[in-house]
Amino acid sequence: MTPLHRIEERLHALTFRQAAILVVAANLLLVALAFLLPPDGAERGPAILSILGNFHILALHIPAAVLLIVPMFEFFERHEQATATVRRLSVFSAAGTWGAVLCGILHAHFNGFAGEAIELHLWGGIGAAAFAGLASLLLSQSFTVRLASQVVAIGVMSFAAHIGGEIVHEEGFPFKPNKVASPRPDKVVIDVAPGAKRDDYAQVIAPILEAHCVECHGAKKVKGKLRMDTLEALKKGGSEGAAFVAGDLQKSLMHVRVTLDPSDEEFMPTEGNPLTKDQVQAFALFIEGKPIPDDVAKAALAATKAPKQAPKK
Ligand code: HEC
Repeated sequence: MTPLHRIEERLHALTFRQAAILVVAANLLLVALAFLLPPDGAERGPAILSILGNFHILALHIPAAVLLIVPMFEFFERHEQATATVRRLSVFSAAGTWGAVLCGILHAHFNGFAGEAIELHLWGGIGAAAFAGLASLLLSQSFTVRLASQVVAIGVMSFAAHIGGEIVHEEGFPFKPNKVASPRPDKVVIDVAPGAKRDDYAQVIAPILEAHCVECHGAKKVKGKLRMDTLEALKKGGSEGAAFVAGDLQKSLMHVRVTLDPSDEEFMPTEGNPLTKDQVQAFALFIEGKPIPDDVAKAALAATKAPKQAPKK
């Protein structure tokens, strides 16, 4: 007898009550974890857990496929009693969904994901695990009850998966044609009439932040609880304080973090190229409330990396 057979025998020996307690307890554990390790941009707990989180995207495909297969067997076989195959697949899909959600909670927590879409994805995933568990509890019910519970589990899973797809890609995915990335402009045009005052935040600072920082400090990911996609957010700052304090370079963490030694753990950005001398200078002048000279602005903007996607129209 293999260990898998032994597990199956044990599960088979459970009364309905015992099985129900197991399913409820497993799902309550997910709910508790979602509160202990919430997706809010801060990191708690041992970082080694993040390795398990890295398996979320791999892990979720298995139960998604198996959940779909169970009602197919049911439908074509049409047995009043669930067959051994249906039982195995159904229990496996419930356990797999639970595991994928566990990895997902860790993945979101340790990668700075935050925001409404993530919350929806998280609770959708927990719902999918709960309904897949329910479907496996109803295996001794009639054909119709089993099929209905399996279809509901698929519905909830599809909803969670769709939100997940929108998080990775963008809203409206997959029913939207892909944008073709626009070629990077050769010349950076700073569009200001001669003599008029340039809006340094909107025209120089924001595009640099957008290209180098917002990927980790924006609406989807808020590492260090810091968003950098508006001036308000820079002033509000993150868990360590304001990123922008007018007139004070030493207190403005958006300056402090980019001027450390690049080998420093706190150096920003943590990935990708460091900011250029001109970009750092543009930040400093902006914080000090001084106008950014044209040559600095142009050189700073020319060094921003090309956006991954064409900007939204
Ligand atoms: C690849 C992801 C990534 C990118 C890109 C990135 N950061 Fe960060 N940032 C982090 C992480 C992770 C933290 C939290 C750990 C820490 O405080 O070092 C953080 C924290 C910070 C903090 C401290 C927030 C607080 O109050 O705790 C500041 C300030 C900051 N980043 C500025 C920047 C700036 C400026 C850029 C762009 C030049 C940038 N970051 C780009 C990952 C990133």
